[in-house]
Amino acid sequence: MRKQIAAANWKMNLSLQESEALVSDLLKTDYSFTNNQLVLLAVPFPYLLNIQQKISGDNHFSVCSQNCAATENGAYTGEVSTQMLNGMGIGYSIIGHSERRLYYQEDNSTLANKINVSFKYGVQPVFCCGEPLEVREKNAQNDFVQLQLEESLFHLTEVQMTNFIIAYEPIWAIGTGRTATSDQAQHMHAHIRAVIEKKYGNDIATSVSILYGGSVKASNAKELFSLPDVDGGLVGGASLIASEFSEIIKSLKK
Ligand code: PGA
Repeated sequence: MRKQIAAANWKMNLSLQESEALVSDLLKTDYSFTNNQLVLLAVPFPYLLNIQQKISGDNHFSVCSQNCAATENGAYTGEVSTQMLNGMGIGYSIIGHSERRLYYQEDNSTLANKINVSFKYGVQPVFCCGEPLEVREKNAQNDFVQLQLEESLFHLTEVQMTNFIIAYEPIWAIGTGRTATSDQAQHMHAHIRAVIEKKYGNDIATSVSILYGGSVKASNAKELFSLPDVDGGLVGGASLIASEFSEIIKSLKK
């Protein structure tokens, strides 16, 4: 059974003290987790170890980085490699968030390199895809997202693609309060799964977790996560508020 995942993306927010207080609050709730449920906390690089320590002993929470370098190591001032993440026991990294694509010019081929160094050092990617508003307005979102998958992921082996994690985040819904409708989300998630099925077959496509991201909050999580091809969410703003994110975690499919 594929994983149902609530992933918090804190972005560049919170002090260390605020971060620790937020995690303490999140851990107070009884979620009655099932085996296939997972919570990822994508925290800023400097907090990775502190937050990892805070959640240690909880099987359903894991720490995730928000980014990683596209190269293995060397003279790349300011970068953080997947080898370093692996050495710190960090098992997950977001790759290809639209803010990275937009502000740091990360294109599909750079992201393919990031995916490769992630697998090389045992870090599971949480790969983001999604179209900007002008593409949605032309109704060209299916081809746009398909190309993102093809150019960044479709060189992967069957083993690497099994249980892979994708986050579909329409850019027009990120931080805007404008969520995709259930129909729009389900359509795109089914399309992503169909594209993977065509290349890798049904068993692998069924094993991939496809998260929805873009203005997920406590009030809409249950409806979105109940859709057949939506396997949880990647949550920005609402993940900074313990009461909101706890409700989002509780909205995961059992
Ligand atoms: P949002 O951000 O929930 O604030 O819209 C989602 C994301 O960027 O991952």
